Amino acid sequence: MTLNFADKPRFAITTPLYYVNGLPHIGSAYTTIAADVVARFYRLMGHSVLMITGTDEHGQKIQRTAEERGVSPQAHCDEFVAGFEHLWELLNISCDRFIRTTADRHQVIVNEFFQRVWERGDIYQGQQQGWYCVSCEEFKEERDLLTDQRCPIHTKQQVEWRDESNYFFKLSKYQDQLEQLYADRPDFIQPESRRNEVLSFVKQGLQDFSISRINLDWGFPVPTDPGHTLYVWFDALLGYITALQDPSDPPSLAAATAEWWPINVHLIGKDILRFHAVYWPAMLMSAGLPVPGRVFGHGFLTKDGQKMGKSQGNTLDPLALVHRYGPDAVRYYFMREIEFGKDGDFNETRFINVLNADLANDLGNLLNRTLKMAARYCEDRVPVIDPEAIPLDHPLAALGRSLGETVAEAYTHLAFSQGCTAILALVQASNKFLDDQAPWSLYKQGKQAETEAVLYAVLESVRQAAYLLSPVVPSLSNQIYTQLGFAVDFNQKDIGQQLSYGDHAAWGYLPPGQPLGVASPVFQRLELPELVASP
Ligand code: MSP
Repeated sequence: MTLNFADKPRFAITTPLYYVNGLPHIGSAYTTIAADVVARFYRLMGHSVLMITGTDEHGQKIQRTAEERGVSPQAHCDEFVAGFEHLWELLNISCDRFIRTTADRHQVIVNEFFQRVWERGDIYQGQQQGWYCVSCEEFKEERDLLTDQRCPIHTKQQVEWRDESNYFFKLSKYQDQLEQLYADRPDFIQPESRRNEVLSFVKQGLQDFSISRINLDWGFPVPTDPGHTLYVWFDALLGYITALQDPSDPPSLAAATAEWWPINVHLIGKDILRFHAVYWPAMLMSAGLPVPGRVFGHGFLTKDGQKMGKSQGNTLDPLALVHRYGPDAVRYYFMREIEFGKDGDFNETRFINVLNADLANDLGNLLNRTLKMAARYCEDRVPVIDPEAIPLDHPLAALGRSLGETVAEAYTHLAFSQGCTAILALVQASNKFLDDQAPWSLYKQGKQAETEAVLYAVLESVRQAAYLLSPVVPSLSNQIYTQLGFAVDFNQKDIGQQLSYGDHAAWGYLPPGQPLGVASPVFQRLELPELVASP
């Protein structure tokens, strides 16, 4: 793919809208961090970005959870939504819109959309019989169930038999159009393995799906028949559209889709792929709207190699993690350690080792010792050398020259791990270069120009690394930039206007003579928490 930064089209990205039946789990944090990294990278390149996240609040699952807690569904949602907002703040998530599906304005959009699909003749009443998993909020095929009618995803939970009058959406009518879409736009579903899953599912022949429920109050009434409640997924997917409109403007489908539609990327986990890659585009086709740019289904996380779950007693609480280690550490581990799209594992020892090796030692120590030398040997300034005079085969310049492009390719393809690895390769090469060149001994021998050339190359490599890592570890990059003498804040949404991407992503930008800031460790070494002996 060739990246065209010249015209800078708008860029919109979403996370799923999370169920509020519980506090956010690590899976929700994982998708949200990834979406935030992409959003931050597009802002860095100077695009106008809309990052959307939010909560999915209707349906049986939420209703039951609220009943179990003895509170109204709305009170339950209000309480749990706060937990999501709090975690996103702690994780430094730079979202532009937070949509709640219980918002009044959302109902206006849902009704209007329903009306369009209704007028298209794509909704009819029928009888729904089947096995329903309340945790998935989805009907399951009998052949996919585990023994004792248990759900294959929520393996401890039995599905429930339903036999009721529902409204159906004519998904089957869109079989050919969907197949055409997948053929015309091979990267509509990513990664490739997920695309293949969807293709083989669609090839079996699509069946209409029910979009309403009876015996359920917690949701929007079906506009044409208020005795029925809209199916939670029909309403939730439309949250992506409602989110596009400024909340203070009068809601309408036309206005909501005028500026930011179609959304460029929906980031989701692999379990909700069918809804996003099959049902959603068909619903949009029915309503006469263009389909989104791409749907990326990432893998599942395990802990110490085991499936996570409350009943297994091995959940990983993102809040505890961020409290203990800070946002940059959590963000970096998941982006660097797991190939996005594949399943991945969390292990605390590995977590600590990766962070100490990459951020505390390789990057943090490198900056610290180089800055101290620059203070001593170069009067606290960036060494005054002519960057143009650096030879083409200089080992760090040679690596840095192609790095901006490599990393841009990686981020735009959501290959976060590859991006981080490429950046760290420059940092590691810089450590080696510093040790090989030994500027402390050059200085002692009175070789001032050589000393300065070495220190410049290392400081510049750290700068370029910090800039390119800023979507992943914004606080760390802020500290590095400050110590290098810049006054910037990578959390600013107009960062792409403040700093030229062309300048800062390239190697050789650090202004010679720039006064340096005070050297202090940018990333504290992490320790495993002491195991508390049980009484
Ligand atoms: N409410 C729906 C989404 C509606 S979007 C219009 C929903 N919510 S969810 O809260 O249950 O799931 C949110 C996300 O968490 C999903 O993308 C799911 O794939 C992800 N994960 C749940 N468990 C996970 C792991 N163990 N690992 C990684 N992601 C996982 O589905």
